[in-house]
Amino acid sequence: MSLLEDLQWRYAAKKMNGEQIPQEKLDYILEAARLAPSSSGLQPYKVFVISNRELLAKIKDVAWGQSQVIDCSHLLVFAAWDGYSDERVSEVFNYTMDERGLPHSTMDDYKNNILGLYEPLGKEWQADHAAKQSYISFAMAIAAAAEQKVDATPIEGFLPPKVDELLNLENSGYKSTLLLTLGYRDADNDWLVNMKKVRTPKEDFITKIK
Ligand SMILES: Cc1cc2nc3c(=O)[nH]c(=O)nc-3n(C[C@H](O)[C@H](O)[C@H](O)COP(=O)(O)O)c2cc1C
Repeated sequence: MSLLEDLQWRYAAKKMNGEQIPQEKLDYILEAARLAPSSSGLQPYKVFVISNRELLAKIKDVAWGQSQVIDCSHLLVFAAWDGYSDERVSEVFNYTMDERGLPHSTMDDYKNNILGLYEPLGKEWQADHAAKQSYISFAMAIAAAAEQKVDATPIEGFLPPKVDELLNLENSGYKSTLLLTLGYRDADNDWLVNMKKVRTPKEDFITKIK
């Protein structure tokens, strides 16, 4: 199947059937999330993979009771940096330079430039910028799941501070940004399963400037 066929197949399942997904499919989806591009390559986010049913039940309670959270196979919680700092940026760039066999100082000018841009914008802007990067990784996971014929429901409908509390993220430097349930649709009980996929018409979505 082509990517476009996979994207036509997928939808935001409202009801999942509790069936588990194979480990290799989970690994594939996580690898797609890891390979996502990010601004300056900082990857200012990470992913928690949750299958513990007690914890899932607690997360469901702070996610507007959405049943997929408990009927999924695994729940991915994306969490992003709460801000940028010299220490954090240096750690990523130093690792990148080590992997490429280059001196740490190679990135100094670039690092000072971005920190010079980001620091005056404040922690709220920085957390928001980091959160935006996590959405790209999230989208890659959604596309990879579709390719693997795994259903994935993107979820922004939850209370991030409550999920942060459940995952002990306070003081970790991370804040939860998104949930993604992975599993299989309950086709007999999902009101959305046979609904037409609707998107903005191409002529409104695309503006060609020649
Ligand atoms: C960032 C984001 C947040 C979303 N939050 C929720 C959510 O909390 N619950 C839900 O059932 N669907 C959620 N959705 C699913 C959208 O409603 C859905 O993707 C959109 O209506 C398009 O339909 P489709 O994905 O089924 O093609 C979210 C989607 C995105 C991308």
